[in-house]
Amino acid sequence: MLVEIEQVLGEDDVQAFLSELAAATWSDGRGSAGYLSRGAKNNEQLPDDDSLALKLGKRVLAALETNATFVAAALPLKIVPPLFNRYQESREYGPHIDGAIRPVAGTPHRIRTDLSATLFLSAPDSYDGGELVVEDTNGQREIKLGAGDLVLYSGGSVHHVAPVTRGTRYAVFFWIQSMVRGGAERQLLFDLDCTIQALSASGAEQAELVRLAGIYHNLLRLWADT
Ligand code: NI
Repeated sequence: MLVEIEQVLGEDDVQAFLSELAAATWSDGRGSAGYLSRGAKNNEQLPDDDSLALKLGKRVLAALETNATFVAAALPLKIVPPLFNRYQESREYGPHIDGAIRPVAGTPHRIRTDLSATLFLSAPDSYDGGELVVEDTNGQREIKLGAGDLVLYSGGSVHHVAPVTRGTRYAVFFWIQSMVRGGAERQLLFDLDCTIQALSASGAEQAELVRLAGIYHNLLRLWADT
């Protein structure tokens, strides 16, 4: 699954985030990497318990809750509190895979990382390089989105962030445990949901729409855990 969602954060929010992040105190990103990814990781992050990260993270979660496309694609059960990273010139994160289980800092809770998400904050013309490159069954996808846009991709994909060769790349990243564990089932549900929405907008017969919605919910009942 690889889904791009535009304007999860609006322009005003993005500007407010960027000005606060520019003044933040950044730490070496290797502090939070597993032993295999530590060698590949060369970026900066705000610590998990950083008060600015917690404050901005709550705003991201609030925006996600009301984003119909995000909810339909991810079918979120739990979301790791969003984290923030910065890649200045010559920084990068080589090929790695995200750990399957992510502890939630300061709590006894753990989250299975079915989906990874990156929300781009920097305008794409403000830096060169810095593409998120995700390997999936169709090969490599290079992703560099507009400020405020988000990409959702399978937590099981090998991925990297290409070196930044000019400017600074700020982003939000986090993981989601979905109500539907299997990527193929989740993709089917998302495709069906999008089709029902499109049919509804085109004025399709109500009785058939209700039947289709019934199929959607019965599949969800079959596959979802809450
Ligand atoms: Ni990663």
